[in-house]
Amino acid sequence: MDKIVIEGGTPLSGQISISGAKNSALKLMVACLLTDEPLELTNMPNLRDTRFLGHLLENFGVKVTDGVGNLTMHAKTLTSTTAPYDLVRKMRASFNVLGPVLARAHKAKVSLPGGCAIGARPVDLHLNALKAMGAEIELSEGYVIASASGGLKGAEITFPFISVGATEHSMLAAVLAKGETVLNNAAREPEIVDLANCLNAMGAKISGAGRSEVTIQGVKKLGGTKFAVVPDRIEAGTYALAAATVGGAVRLVNVRSDHLGSLWPLIAQAGAKVTMDENSVLVERHGTPIHPVDVETQAYPGFPTDLQAQFMAMMCLADGVSIIRENIFENRFMHCPELSRMGANITVSGREAIIRGVPKLKGAQVMATDLRASASLIAAGMAAEGTTEVGRVYHLDRGFEQIEVKLGNCGARIKRVKE
Ligand code: UD1
Repeated sequence: MDKIVIEGGTPLSGQISISGAKNSALKLMVACLLTDEPLELTNMPNLRDTRFLGHLLENFGVKVTDGVGNLTMHAKTLTSTTAPYDLVRKMRASFNVLGPVLARAHKAKVSLPGGCAIGARPVDLHLNALKAMGAEIELSEGYVIASASGGLKGAEITFPFISVGATEHSMLAAVLAKGETVLNNAAREPEIVDLANCLNAMGAKISGAGRSEVTIQGVKKLGGTKFAVVPDRIEAGTYALAAATVGGAVRLVNVRSDHLGSLWPLIAQAGAKVTMDENSVLVERHGTPIHPVDVETQAYPGFPTDLQAQFMAMMCLADGVSIIRENIFENRFMHCPELSRMGANITVSGREAIIRGVPKLKGAQVMATDLRASASLIAAGMAAEGTTEVGRVYHLDRGFEQIEVKLGNCGARIKRVKE
């Protein structure tokens, strides 16, 4: 298994081009199941998760053609309506095939999902939404068996709390339902707007995406389109935080700075300088101390849970005490013991972590525990004295395109080693 080896202590300097968003690409890919015409996605990230979803789509009879930075998927006919355990367990987003297959074929059998081990992560909201649209749902031997003999019907759905996945899944199912669907308390993430824009380009009638109330007028048929995946705000935030943590100057290009409105003031408060122009963001810190900043994760437009671990890596080196509260997932502090192995002083109590900043971190052997946590260990390793080895990097490859190349181009002494 590969590991990443980092010699710490070198400031970052250079430019990083941000890839298309993994979390958007995965839902856009699933949308191909809704039409018998080709869907072409450009600005596609090349990641383990997207390749993996490509295999799952092939299992349904989708012809997947992989180009450089683009991906064409053609679901002319669905040759299967079953997503087996082996293809779903590795990635939670695969579960989102259920709604589209059900909407198009009026039946679907999909294994319950796996994915990052960050809490229980049930799918009750997804299933309740499909039931509200008239689906009959049975759970049997780890599978969801769903049917809607006359097709799905529009419904008014009020989510008890905000869920990105359930909002997207409901949109993917409702576009081909009969009549109007209204989603109340919907998630407002940029990835949801991206999905709505792509579905609308395919002929869907979705309004209000990006707001709490989304309305979908069902249509009989969707067609193909060509659509560019939105830049990855989490990848951009990860490199911005790495620059602020390690020091130096990094310019991010192909970035949507407006999608990280909650992050920029916090980075500035921590002591880094953030300069934005129309197409890029420059993050700099030259020898000035890192200040402690409290943060809590929230649904968009609040601070993203997917940047919590990376923010914590920065706070480990602050000149004071900070508190980070995780409100979205109940078990998302698995990076804390790993950061502690590098000399960080972190106490976790329930949903809060108290981070007492230390003057320096020391290189150590650490283990990636989930996708975003892996990125926090890399930033800590680049800021630390000595050598850090990050094991289990397959987590990292799920969601960061060529991370060691992008950071290496900014002067980081980082390499991938085959074991
Ligand atoms: C998506 C993102 C993930 C991000 C998360 C929150 C993808 C592929 N993943 O995950 O990177 O961290 O949004 O921004 O886009 N929940 C339930 N029942 C449900 C659905 C969710 O209890 O049916 C809970 C979850 O366990 C979690 C919370 O709701 O505690 C929010 O989860 P959700 O917004 O659905 O996250 P995902 O869509 O899984």
